[in-house]
This record gives sequence, structure tokens and C-alpha cells, in this order.
Amino acid sequence: MRIGILGSGGMADALGGQWVRHGHEVVVGGRDTGRAAALAGRIGASAGTLAQAAAFGEVVLVAVPHDAVPSVLAEVLRADSAALRGRVVVDCTNPVVPPGFTLATPGRSVAAGIAEQAAGARVVKGFNLCHVDVWRMTPPVFGGRPLSVPLCGDDADAVETVAALVRDLGCHPVNGGGLDRAGLLEATAAFVIGLWFAGEDAQAILTPLEFAGQPG
Ligand SMILES: NC(=O)c1ccc[n+]([C@@H]2O[C@H](COP(=O)([O-])OP(=O)(O)OC[C@H]3O[C@@H](n4cnc5c(N)ncnc54)[C@H](OP(=O)(O)O)[C@@H]3O)[C@@H](O)[C@H]2O)c1
Repeated sequence: MRIGILGSGGMADALGGQWVRHGHEVVVGGRDTGRAAALAGRIGASAGTLAQAAAFGEVVLVAVPHDAVPSVLAEVLRADSAALRGRVVVDCTNPVVPPGFTLATPGRSVAAGIAEQAAGARVVKGFNLCHVDVWRMTPPVFGGRPLSVPLCGDDADAVETVAALVRDLGCHPVNGGGLDRAGLLEATAAFVIGLWFAGEDAQAILTPLEFAGQPG
């Protein structure tokens, strides 16, 4: 698969590196092409501008801070207004504001904003619930169970494409519903990160399925 990554930081490094190892062609795009080239060299990818990475990817991972997303997309769409049309756009951002760990724009998910700004993009929210170091693990397995990764998106084919990328990491994709539920995924991250920063074991707050109050 051809994967373009917008951003050349930790998430680009972790996920891009995994996908290169699984045989995907990856182009890392950064506002600083030197930094993008350094990362690409480390993980065996190619590098370019943000617009070049978007143009390359059948799948485009948005891996910049949530508040940089509108300007990054604007730059990509300035180069080619149809750059993201039909593309699978993966949003891993966390619009979480410390120190209170609240949402930056309650009631409006970053993922919905991407879908609105990049008309025709097939947006999938995912990879936002775990720390970057988890995405470097091969594979992330905890207590003998592979990590489950919820995905939210409206386009079933796009969600399945991202599910395949989740399986490449040795993880188990979970259908989290449509893009209207992406805000819940973002809120879950805010809540859980708040617990982690308070030193609490967030994983322990949920019961096994058989205690969920309804048949599984
Ligand atoms: N780190 C985690 O544990 C984690 C986990 C899950 C989700 N996420 C989410 O994943 C996204 C990326 O996180 P990260 O850890 O990879 O961050 P990071 O290491 O700080 O990297 C951020 C990248 O975004 C670029 N960037 C920042 N502002 C920009 C702007 N205005 N225009 C263009 N590019 C800009 C940076 O470019 P420069 O290198 O030029 O500064 C850098 O390449 C964030 O939304 C974060 O919430 C992070």
C-alpha cells in the first residue's frame, strides 16, 4: 500500500516504521523537509513536502498536533484541491488540553473537521488511545492479549483498509462505528490520559465483556 504521512514526529516514526517493515511504501511529509528526510532515512521511507506525501498516499496519516491540522490540510489542498478526494485519511490526533485534560473543541471532533475541510476524503479515526511507544512494540500485547484498536469511519472500505494496517502491527481492529463517534474516541483519550497523568491504572476501570450487563 502507498502511505503518505503528514508530520515527521513521534507518531510518524512509530507507525511509519512499522508499516515500512510490513512492506508498505511510505512517504514522510514535513513542513521541514530536512527533518522529514532524516526520519525517512531512519525508517526506510522516502521524504517530501506535506503536499507530496498527501499526493503519494492511497492512505494519508495525519500526524501533526490537532491545532495544526487545518493549516496543514490547507497547504495540501492549496497545492491540489483534489489531493485528498477518495483517499483514506487516518486521523490519530488527540485534541486534549492539559492540565485539565479537556477537549480543545468540545462537541466537534478533529476527524469531523478533516472530513469537512477535505471534501471527498474517507476519514477514519484511530491510533489515538495509546502512547507513541506502544505503536513501536512488535506486537503490543498486554496480559497475553493483543491490543485492540477502535476505528471510527463512515466508509466501510476505508475502515477495512485501516483495519489491515492495524493487523500489520499485530493488533486487533475494533469497529467503533461511524465518524459521528470519532468525538467519543477523542473524549475517551482525554479521560484516560487524565487518569494516567494522575497515576491511575485506566485499564482497570473496564470490566470483562461478561460483566457488561448484556449478552456479548
Ligand atoms: N505522542 C503520542 O504518544 C501520541 C499518541 C497518540 C496520538 N498522538 C497524536 O498524534 C499527533 C502527532 O503526535 P506526535 O507525538 O507525532 O507529535 P510530535 O512528535 O510533536 O510531532 C509533530 C509533528 O507535527 C509537525 N507540526 C507541528 N506543528 C505544525 C504545523 N503548524 N504545520 C506543519 N507541521 C507541524 C511537527 O513538525 P516539526 O518537526 O517541523 O516541528 C512534527 O513533524 C498529535 O496530534 C498527537 O495528539 C500522539
